[in-house]
This record gives sequence, structure tokens and C-alpha cells, in this order.
Amino acid sequence: MHFHIITILPEFFESPLSCGLLGKAIEKGIVQTSLIFPRDFTSDRHSTVDDRPYGGGPGMVMMVDPLFKALNSLPENCKKILLTPKGSPFNQQAARRFSRERDIALVCGRYEGIDTRIEKLFDLEEVSAGDYVLNGGEAAALCLMESVSRFLPGFMGKQESVGEESFSEGLLEYPHYTRPEQYQGLGVPEVLLSGHHGRISRWRRERSLENTFRLRPRLLDETTLSNEDIDFLRSLEKFSPARNLYLSLIHAPVMNKTGKESVTSLTNLDIHDIARVCETFGLGGYYICTPLKDQQALGKRLIAHWTTGAGGQGNPDRAVALSGISICENLDEAISCIEIQAGIKPQIIATSARGSGNITFGEVRSLLNRGPVLIVLGTGYGLSPAVVSLADAILRPVRYLSPFNHLSVRSATSIMVDRIIGDYY
Ligand SMILES: C[S@@+](CC[C@H](N)C(=O)[O-])C[C@H]1O[C@@H](n2cnc3c(N)ncnc32)[C@H](O)[C@@H]1O
Repeated sequence: MHFHIITILPEFFESPLSCGLLGKAIEKGIVQTSLIFPRDFTSDRHSTVDDRPYGGGPGMVMMVDPLFKALNSLPENCKKILLTPKGSPFNQQAARRFSRERDIALVCGRYEGIDTRIEKLFDLEEVSAGDYVLNGGEAAALCLMESVSRFLPGFMGKQESVGEESFSEGLLEYPHYTRPEQYQGLGVPEVLLSGHHGRISRWRRERSLENTFRLRPRLLDETTLSNEDIDFLRSLEKFSPARNLYLSLIHAPVMNKTGKESVTSLTNLDIHDIARVCETFGLGGYYICTPLKDQQALGKRLIAHWTTGAGGQGNPDRAVALSGISICENLDEAISCIEIQAGIKPQIIATSARGSGNITFGEVRSLLNRGPVLIVLGTGYGLSPAVVSLADAILRPVRYLSPFNHLSVRSATSIMVDRIIGDYY
């Protein structure tokens, strides 16, 4: 593997390329590096590689011509990578893919960045080290070189260790222990001392699954899981933060089409469908709020029919879903019930089809790790300002950029819950 590093700061690479595994790989010829200086491709007296940005603004921009010439000096079929914050975030799959190349050029920007026309002149793959800004592409290039080189035969002491690391199978790695067996009152899991390879390997797989499930659940999307893995992940699900998510459907006070506060009737569809969403995603509970006594009685009768009554006997799955419903007088009562159940008052998140909200789905997901969260759903023409004023935040509407935004509350609920929880907990 030959890395051609295009940089105006060659000294940046001195020690990283001369020590550790990368240094050894270079000594053994497994990895080769060339440092290419854009200044060598300039023709003016000062070897200028940067200039002021058109349109004004702070800082300098790397000029296209020295880079154009530097890139043209590369061997044929050289893979060309531009390190830039707007590139695809670098990951282990990309590292494995790049390790199949023979020559890789790494274009390191500096200053405010590079004249964008370079991207039109070459087939450059844009790669980012992550969603943050570095002073230059050099640190990003080093990350890439290290992780790509680890896939090269002979680079690692034991080749199999690459296959066991984090991300190699789409999972985070299991935890490691080494001597001493006891440290500051902390021991080593018994199974690792057992010498039983089968049990050790199962323990490691489960810890990998557990770490991934808890810390980076979205990685599970790309992972091949056995039936045994799925059974294990299901056993973790009962501790899921999804249990901290509660829903309430408000029938009063809501707005009517004339812009006045009013009361709506319960609907069978919302009772059933939202209860089914709650059970499918493992949520904490579903509170239907209406101040009307006859509506409360109707709701309770319906729930009784589908749980303990004939409906529930004929359809036990429906009985499971509808047994998660509580009928309340109003939002305050729902909040008190959750406070009793969870031992702490929930964060209240209102919903609306209008505006752009002030909390995102991802932010609600993070809140679930800290405690209960109640999503407040409206009926009629939406929650009244009196209800919204009780909320800590307003969730971003589904399709908030669309001029037509008229989902039924049950459709919107399914989408919102999926965006908050998805398949990940
Ligand atoms: C100071 S940065 C320029 C940042 C640019 N003004 C912006 O806001 O996106 C200079 C150079 O550092 C490199 N760089 C900075 N952050 C990076 C990242 N997260 N991943 C890869 N390269 C990065 C790029 O080569 C970039 O051209």
C-alpha cells in the first residue's frame, strides 16, 4: 500500500510515520509513503499556495492550480481521497475497502479549505474524520492511514485481532481484562478465568451485543445477527429506555376549526392503533385524557371489552395492547400517574403540526436515558395553548417543511415513535 500525502505541512507526519506499528510497517515495506508538497508545483517567487477568498470573508483558501498539478503527478489508477468535514464520515467499512487499493492519495486541506473547483477536476472521494473541524486534513489523513494499514497482511502481530475489533462485525468490542486479577476491589468476570473457550466466546459476543445495544444501537442495523443473538438482545429490551416514553392523547382542551377551544370525542381507531404502537415499541403507557364522564365511561367500556371481555378472549394480542391504556380526566392527572409509576415527574413534550418545534427526535431519544418523557398528542385542530404552556418543549413536526401537513394523530404518532425509538432499543 502506497500513501501519497499531499500536504503543505510535511513535518506533521515525522513522528507518526516513524513509530509504533505504522513505523514498523514502513520499515518492512508493507506500507510506503510519499509526501507531496503543493509548493513544488508553483511557479511564482514565493511558492504561493493560498489566496484570499472571492466574495470576501476571513482566512485564506488553498489555490486550485498547485493541487491540480500535484494530483496530476500521481501514478495512474491512484485512488484520490479529499479530507474534508463535508465528506462521508470515515468508518471501519471504508478502511477495509481502501485497504484493497494499491495507491491512495490523501489531499490535506489547510486554511479555510480548498478552492472547490478541484472537486470538479478529479474523481475525489470526500472523507471526513467526523463532525468537527480540524486545523487541517493531516490529522484526518493519519487516522485513515492507521486504520487502513491494520487490514494489510503482516501489519498486525496477529492478523486475527483485526477481525475481533470494534466495528469489524458491525458491533462494538467486548471489554478486556489483564493482570492483576483483583484491583482496587474490582475483580475479573469468573467466565474469563474458567478456561472454557465456548463460554468465553459466548460471553464476549453477548458483551459486544450489549455494548452496541446500549451505546451505539444504530450499528445493529448493519449487523448480521443469529437467532441466539436476537434472543439475547430481546432479553435486554426489558431494560430499554423506550419504557421511559409515555403517550397521552388529549381530547380537551383542543382547538376546533373556528380557532376556539373545544372538546373532541374518543375514536375507536386512535384507542386501538396508538395502544398497538405503545406495545410494539415497548413504551411505558398510553393515557387518554377527556373531562367528559360519558366519554370516560365509553373508553373504559371499550377497553374492558378488548381486555377482559369477549374481544380480548377472541383476540389476546389486542388484549395485551389495550391493557396499557389509562383513561384520565386531563393532562395533569396523566402526569401524576406517570410520576407515581416512574418515581419522577416526566418531561412534557407537546406536539403540533405547525411551526418547526424546539426539540428534535434525537434530543427526545437522549432524554429517555435520563428519565420519563411524556409526548402530548392533540386531537381536533391541535392542542390548545393552555396545554402547550405546560410543556417543556415542542417536538419538531413530521414533514415540517411540507405545505401539506395533515396526518391523522395515529399516523403521526407511529412516525414520531419510530423516529424516537426505531428498532434500536
Ligand atoms: C480549518 S479546516 C476548514 C474548515 C472549513 N472552513 C469548514 O468549515 O468546513 C481546513 C482543512 O482541514 C481539513 N479538515 C478539517 N476538519 C476535518 C474533518 N472533520 N475531517 C477531514 N478533514 C478535515 C480539511 O482538509 C479542511 O480543508
